[in-house]
Amino acid sequence: MTTVGILGGTGPAGSGVAIQMASAGYDVVLGSRDASRAVEAAKGLNPRGSGTLRGAANEEAASCDLVVVATPWESAVATVMVLRVQLANKIVISMVNALVREGKELVPVYPPRGSMAAQLAFALPDSTIVGAFHHLPADQMLDLDSGLDGDVVIFSDDDEARQRVADIVDEMPGLRGVVAGSMSLASAIEAFTAVCISINIRHKVHSYVKLAGLKD
Ligand SMILES: NC(=O)c1ccc[n+]([C@@H]2O[C@H](COP(=O)([O-])OP(=O)(O)OC[C@H]3O[C@@H](n4cnc5c(N)ncnc54)[C@H](OP(=O)(O)O)[C@@H]3O)[C@@H](O)[C@H]2O)c1
Repeated sequence: MTTVGILGGTGPAGSGVAIQMASAGYDVVLGSRDASRAVEAAKGLNPRGSGTLRGAANEEAASCDLVVVATPWESAVATVMVLRVQLANKIVISMVNALVREGKELVPVYPPRGSMAAQLAFALPDSTIVGAFHHLPADQMLDLDSGLDGDVVIFSDDDEARQRVADIVDEMPGLRGVVAGSMSLASAIEAFTAVCISINIRHKVHSYVKLAGLKD
């Protein structure tokens, strides 16, 4: 079975993906800069199904078969740079959104290469970057009884890798993987998260993306 590591997995977003992945049957390592923090965080997560979930240092999480980057955008590149060797020849999923708060809104920030996924691809030339999970509210992922029924918009320049991630997402409770296309879409997909969160702040909800018109 594929193992999944989450860098910055102690945060709500990484923990949310972790519990969903473990509930889909994957063995998940929640990573942290401080292994003991990850061990504590993992104790509070109770996946359903045959998968497992444990905490460890980011280094150990990076040694898994597939790795998710779930740190704040300001620290994502620095986090992966020191793990280049462990991350080589693997799929690295970026769920990182570069956003800043302005009053009641979140607005997108465009890093030099246009998106955080492109920044990570530049930092990790020997890895395959796939973008996914940008629009999902952590609270809904963390609560396996939230009735989550959403789409995960996926992009990558590697056709096989993006389809693999879509297949994994399809196994996660309440989620459907939708391949949108290449890395060229990364900035638009990441920036749309600002729209989702601004709607959530304004309307005091936890909305997320569900695309109409797709065939099941
Ligand atoms: N929150 C959501 O609903 C959501 C949904 C989709 C996507 N995202 C994206 O997912 C990412 C994580 O979101 P989050 O809300 O979980 O963020 P967060 O709680 O602020 O941070 C996640 C984890 O990153 C680690 N971290 C914090 N500062 C760091 C630094 N300077 N260097 C290295 N690691 C650091 C921390 O883990 P340790 O201290 O244990 O190392 C922290 O628990 C963001 O890029 C966000 O845009 C969030």
